[in-house]
Amino acid sequence: GTRYLSSQPPNSRTPNFAFAFDIDGVLLRSSQPIPGATQCLTYLHKHHIPFILLTNGGGKTEAQRTRDLNDKLSLPPEYQIHVNQLIQSHTPLSELATTHGTPSYKNKTILVVGGDGDKCRLCAENYGFTNVVTPGDIFAAYPDIWPFSSNFNGYYSSFARPLPRPINLEAADPEHESLKIDAVMVFNDPRDWGLDCQLLLDIMLSHKGIVGTYSNKNGRKDLENHGYQSDGQPPIYFSNPDLLWASAYPLSRLGQGGFREAMVGVWKAITKSASGSEIPLKYTVMGKPHQPTYEYAERVMVRSREEAYGRDVQERIPLEKVYMIGDNPESDITGANNYRSLVGARWMSVLTRTGVFRAREGERPAVEPRVIVDDVREGVRWALKDSG
Ligand code: G3P
Ligand code: MG
Repeated sequence: GTRYLSSQPPNSRTPNFAFAFDIDGVLLRSSQPIPGATQCLTYLHKHHIPFILLTNGGGKTEAQRTRDLNDKLSLPPEYQIHVNQLIQSHTPLSELATTHGTPSYKNKTILVVGGDGDKCRLCAENYGFTNVVTPGDIFAAYPDIWPFSSNFNGYYSSFARPLPRPINLEAADPEHESLKIDAVMVFNDPRDWGLDCQLLLDIMLSHKGIVGTYSNKNGRKDLENHGYQSDGQPPIYFSNPDLLWASAYPLSRLGQGGFREAMVGVWKAITKSASGSEIPLKYTVMGKPHQPTYEYAERVMVRSREEAYGRDVQERIPLEKVYMIGDNPESDITGANNYRSLVGARWMSVLTRTGVFRAREGERPAVEPRVIVDDVREGVRWALKDSG
């Protein structure tokens, strides 16, 4: 697609640095722009200084989120954010839909959890997944699966689709006659923790991910070293580790990490009672602060510099510094501090006081950033001076 950095031959002014901006708590508080955010992005765009947006948020397609951001930040048409600059929590999950990726779930049955309605299903289909089921589909087909969501029948029936296969408890051959989930992907914060937690528990206790079955391996003491999930249950991917995030409410709110901890708590209680000792739930967590998410972000940055300045720009003017401006010490700062760059760039963590970290009475963050600033404007100013 078209690029956001206008192409020009590398010259002495070609920057050897770039920015990575967190969104919630740095640029926006829910839909409210944080003072200085618009001016910063406009300035960088005007001066051809590369930047990306790296968020643990999501829940809609990158194209839709980009339009929303341009609108909420009132960015002028000539300086708007381009979809290629945006990396959401689930953007890297798109690699599981490619046929060359390993593993590939492109045509497998995946349960996509979270977000409003089936917006996350549309994201997943946008990535190339062809067989996407949502908890709403399962509930609309089998309301008894979670008796307490009957108040939301109207909501679920507004977007539910027929299941690819029934939940057939008396199936002669469950594996080929019943709904079998091959992977669970939590794209965004679940809106109905009860239904979603129940379904994830059902799937993780099932035989091979077949909804409505119960593995006869669960509860067997001889399997304790393998733990549960030793009967072909599908992998679970959580796309955002955030326990807390900065919304429009003055106090930080529970994020997708809160749902994960609730799910793990239920899992421990259920499996402990059967086997007597705690069995860890196996899952993959992506998003900031984890290395794969930062690698994905750095690859996007390197590619956009090559598109703008020529394929040999990395040899001629290597990317030397990336300023990660974030509000959450546990995700933005930890991730940047710990990131092992693929191209030898130094990721410099800049912590703002406008989000999760509030610096009450001189409180220090749990991890030390390169610098603490009042807001994104001061952060960009500091970085431009530091970049020399
Ligand atoms: O759900 C969004 C929240 O987890 C934090 O988003 O933009 O601060 O990484 P962000
Ligand atoms: Mg944030």
